Amino acid sequence: MSDRIKQIANQLNYPKGLLASQVAIITGSSQGIGAECARLFVNEGSRVIVSDIDAAKASHVADKIRGNGGEAVAVPGDLLRDEYIKELFGKAAEFGGGKIHTIVNNAGFTWDAVIHKMTDKHWETIVALHATVPFKLVREAAPYFRTKDGEPRNILKISSTSGLHGNASQINYAIAKAGGVGLTKTIAKEWGPGFGVRANTVAFGHIETRLTANKEAGTFVKKQKAGGVVPYIDIPLRRPGSATEAASTILAIASPFSSHISGQTISVAGGRNM
Ligand SMILES: NC(=O)c1ccc[n+]([C@@H]2O[C@H](COP(=O)([O-])OP(=O)(O)OC[C@H]3O[C@@H](n4cnc5c(N)ncnc54)[C@H](O)[C@@H]3O)[C@@H](O)[C@H]2O)c1
Repeated sequence: MSDRIKQIANQLNYPKGLLASQVAIITGSSQGIGAECARLFVNEGSRVIVSDIDAAKASHVADKIRGNGGEAVAVPGDLLRDEYIKELFGKAAEFGGGKIHTIVNNAGFTWDAVIHKMTDKHWETIVALHATVPFKLVREAAPYFRTKDGEPRNILKISSTSGLHGNASQINYAIAKAGGVGLTKTIAKEWGPGFGVRANTVAFGHIETRLTANKEAGTFVKKQKAGGVVPYIDIPLRRPGSATEAASTILAIASPFSSHISGQTISVAGGRNM
């Protein structure tokens, strides 16, 4: 697939990659979808800031990219700390020569409980990480995105089918992920005019990563005990997506192939919730 993308890119006059000379901050990129996203972005000529709370894994991802000839730097830290957000942008701008073109708001985890057992701590942590942090990142990004240099600017919010359709035991995650849709549309309406900033939401269904590994194991056992129910009955493609498939959509939306797409929510869910 990557060869095919290169072929099309060359035809469209992007011989150095779809994101050549760009700089991207990808949060939560030490593993899973974010790490794949970092790899695919670098393949397309982007320089990447690997942002994650897990310093060792973030360094590993950045080292591996550099070992393969790409440009990446790890800036580890906890996005729930305001000082880290400032540090992240300071280091990103330094690394990017004063420019930042793309932010992928991807970092996150789930902390599930049914409504009547959900504590304030459950609620506040998840809403902070999935809704407030992306807002703070975008606010901090303003000087780098409200520019008229004619270069592409993209803000991607990673959401979930739980945010679009709700999900039992995930009221905190569902509202925070749903909020991302409004965040995206507001950025598209404020920063599209005058600056050409595109903002889009990518909502995943079931993607195989650490986030889903434990839940999936539990579900599968239950299904087997229940007597051989067809796995993934709610997904028309009958399988989860891979981190590479998920990251490929993020790349597609950030790329010039999507240059007239803004304010949209793209579901990557194998057809689930149609
Ligand atoms: N995997 C799925 O099926 C699925 C479905 C829908 C949405 N999503 C969303 O996709 C995104 C990526 O998920 P994933 O499946 O790759 O999960 P993952 O657990 O593999 O990766 C998430 C990363 O975010 C980092 N992170 C968490 N809290 C952080 C914090 N406070 N500061 C900095 N970094 C932090 C983690 O360290 C981790 O590396 C998340 O926003 C998730 O909600 C995933």
